[in-house]
Amino acid sequence: MRENKKLAPRQIMFGISLLLVFGFSVAGCGLGSTNAAMRGQELFQNCAPCHQADGSGNPQVGAPNIAGMKAWYVQAQLQKFRAGTRGMHFSDVEGMRMRPMAVSLASDDDVKAVAQYVESLPTVKHAPTLTGDAHAGDNQFHLVCASCHGINGEGNPDLKAPRLAGVDDWYLATQLRKFKAGIRGNNSKDMEGRLMRPMSRVLTDEDAIRNVMAYLDTLNP
Ligand code: HEC
Ligand code: HEC
Repeated sequence: MRENKKLAPRQIMFGISLLLVFGFSVAGCGLGSTNAAMRGQELFQNCAPCHQADGSGNPQVGAPNIAGMKAWYVQAQLQKFRAGTRGMHFSDVEGMRMRPMAVSLASDDDVKAVAQYVESLPTVKHAPTLTGDAHAGDNQFHLVCASCHGINGEGNPDLKAPRLAGVDDWYLATQLRKFKAGIRGNNSKDMEGRLMRPMSRVLTDEDAIRNVMAYLDTLNP
């Protein structure tokens, strides 16, 4: 009994220290991810002037609705803007508008945090701004584009092909024109852009672009 009484405080101390070590490490993990989420939200304040606080975008400045875009794709594009493999061409007015914003992110951790915040925002789908033959666009899309972008335009991370469903039609049409003209996807280090470029040429004229856009407008994100 006497022995037990002597040991009891030590056992308690041991228990407390275990609890402290374990408790702190758990709190540490929790704090890490909470911090990243808070950091992402904080960083996004610099994006809101163009992409809006809800990520719904602003056609006036050519900024698309990025809300709900997958973090892997947002991160990849931010890194391309930072490295100058996107948004460097002298004719790429919108890309050059976006590039300094990506460059202003201080670290890879910040890029990751803001990308995750973008993915966490609920998607916003706008009414179509372009008209075209959705039936012809449907055929074209499933003949050429769906193999990479998915049969419902949902995207395919394995092929680094982003979701197109629900993304602003005026923005996607602009990107197709940029790919066709070599304003995007022309840098030797832009592997995915170089993969996409020849695909854009399949859409031979504005009608073909509008038709695919009219079809994509029927899909939900
Ligand atoms: C000064 C306005 C402006 C600000 C601020 C801005 N952007 Fe942009 N962003 C644009 C424009 C314009 C485009 C379209 C570029 C193009 O047409 O190639 C764009 C494109 C993007 C894209 C590419 C989307 C896609 O589908 O490929 C991502 C991702 C993006 N912005 C994220 C951000 C993030 C994150 C921030 C904040 C760190 C930010 N932007 C701040 C104007 C802005
Ligand atoms: C071989 C695979 C492949 C095919 C087929 C393909 N794409 Fe792409 N597409 C990609 C990849 C990869 C990207 C991402 C490029 C990057 O990272 O900049 C992309 C990007 C895009 C973008 C830019 C999206 C954005 O948010 O900025 C548009 C628009 C697009 N594709 C439309 C199409 C259309 C329309 C077709 C059919 C005519 C098509 N793609 C066929 C692989 C493909």
